[in-house]
Amino acid sequence: MPRPLARVRRHAASCRTVVAAVVTALALHGSALHSKTLAAQAPASNAERYAVIPRPGVLTPKTGAFTLTRTTVIHAPAAFRAVAHRFARDVANPTGFDLTVRTAEAPATTGIVLRKDATLPEEAYTLDVTPAAIVVRASAPAGAFYGLETVKQLLPADIFRDAPLPGITWTAPAVHIEDTPRFSWRGAHLDVSRHFMPKEFVKKYIDLLARHKLNRFHWHLTEDQGWRIEIKKYPRLTEVGSCREQTLVGPYVSDPAKRVFDGKRHCGFYTQDDVREVVAYAAARMVTVVPEIEMPGHAQAAVFAYPQLSSKPDSTPGVMQVWGVSPFILNPSDESVAFMQDVLREVLTLFPSPWIHIGGDEAIKDQWKASPQIQARIKALGLKDEHEMQSWFIRQMDTFLTKQGRRLIGWDEILEGGLAENATVMSWRGMEGGIAAAKAGHDVVMAPGSHTYFDHYQSRDKSKEPLAIGGFTPIDSAYAFEPVPASLTAAEAKHILGAQAQVWTEYIPNAKQVEYMAFPRLSALAEGLWSAKTRKDFPDFMARMQTHLKRLEALDVNFRKLDKPVP
Ligand code: ACM
Repeated sequence: MPRPLARVRRHAASCRTVVAAVVTALALHGSALHSKTLAAQAPASNAERYAVIPRPGVLTPKTGAFTLTRTTVIHAPAAFRAVAHRFARDVANPTGFDLTVRTAEAPATTGIVLRKDATLPEEAYTLDVTPAAIVVRASAPAGAFYGLETVKQLLPADIFRDAPLPGITWTAPAVHIEDTPRFSWRGAHLDVSRHFMPKEFVKKYIDLLARHKLNRFHWHLTEDQGWRIEIKKYPRLTEVGSCREQTLVGPYVSDPAKRVFDGKRHCGFYTQDDVREVVAYAAARMVTVVPEIEMPGHAQAAVFAYPQLSSKPDSTPGVMQVWGVSPFILNPSDESVAFMQDVLREVLTLFPSPWIHIGGDEAIKDQWKASPQIQARIKALGLKDEHEMQSWFIRQMDTFLTKQGRRLIGWDEILEGGLAENATVMSWRGMEGGIAAAKAGHDVVMAPGSHTYFDHYQSRDKSKEPLAIGGFTPIDSAYAFEPVPASLTAAEAKHILGAQAQVWTEYIPNAKQVEYMAFPRLSALAEGLWSAKTRKDFPDFMARMQTHLKRLEALDVNFRKLDKPVP
């Protein structure tokens, strides 16, 4: 029997009362609107002229502006050529300009000039816009790419459209910017297993990440409700594991007799060529794709495809049709270890990511407890209980991935029963798992439900929102999130790589609803992950959002409208 939603139960406990914060947010939003009304008469405010999100470390307004024309030349050293061409391609449609890219090691003084500056960190850049030139300095392509993303945000929002509109002058206001990210892991996750998301949308999502200077896409590819990545050695994973016969309609109900289903098959998976395409698309935008292959839990689709992997092989059900967590988990046998390592071997050929996510969360141990064969295995391996059994299983993957030069990452349940030697922990049940891991010298990505689960409601008034899994995470909570717990020493805090948003799709049936749940909260989280703590300022962010929402409109993002001010 599937369980009720564990995430809902945990969220109910972790959701904080943020009424006061919301009232403040609404009041602040009111002042932003007020300044916009005034803008009709007054010159644009700096928040409008320099509406850069995430907010740069140093931004000094200057006088004048640079105008992009069809004769503007982009000068780039060889190392930044690809980045320069990417920019030229991105602006070609909205401007109608076919900009020339010249490889130039010698410094040019007009046009758009990319310069190498070895003193800067890899993702950092400086940007000087004057009437004569736009100069971006960086040590590596990532920094040059982010500098040019900032340039796009200084241009009119229509730069994010796909065809030229009449009458636009493409000016960027003069400015001096120095910018570097606070965290190296600035991510967003997407569950494509509960509801399959087409490849073209996955690319759009990655593109939106890159425009927010986010650099990790966590692709949740396997689940109880569907296996979504082609594995050549085990074709049944997608032949039968990628389809469920029907899907629960409405909220989860524990009484099977009361459940209503849509009667429609739900299918979908990515071929290995599709995966290569997505990974290359992401790499061109400085985004590392971190694949997640769930084990030993969330594996009902896998054990349906290959019942020999099951902890209860005599009664394996089909691909799961309701939400919740399935008790059908992998048998921790040598055969399952070999099978999952085979799967990972193919995954490694597709994903250059240093990190490979093996899930590890919510593995219900009932079948392990009930199986004499698994109990005998626990004893034979000298393990104390089912938690140590799970740790043993995860350790087999850790050793395997480490030998291949990669790093295992898993949800914080991998701490239970002992953490594998080289594991990185993704802390979702609050910050505690991350704190314990950092204190033990392991790297951590913070992903607590309270601030980063964007499948939660964005409003207390649920009647006006699409059905969601529960919880309440408004934009100001996402903005306020601080990934580094105060209880850590400076040395321990270095293990906090950063944080990421989670978009679980039980109640998110299509791409437009993903956009609605992700934005604008992801814009808020992106600022918290990129900008220095001292640069975070919610009223200023909300003022810049007025312009940023125009960009999201141009990009056809179905973002949730900001709440109206209190009348
Ligand atoms: C999770 O939400 N089960 C990681």
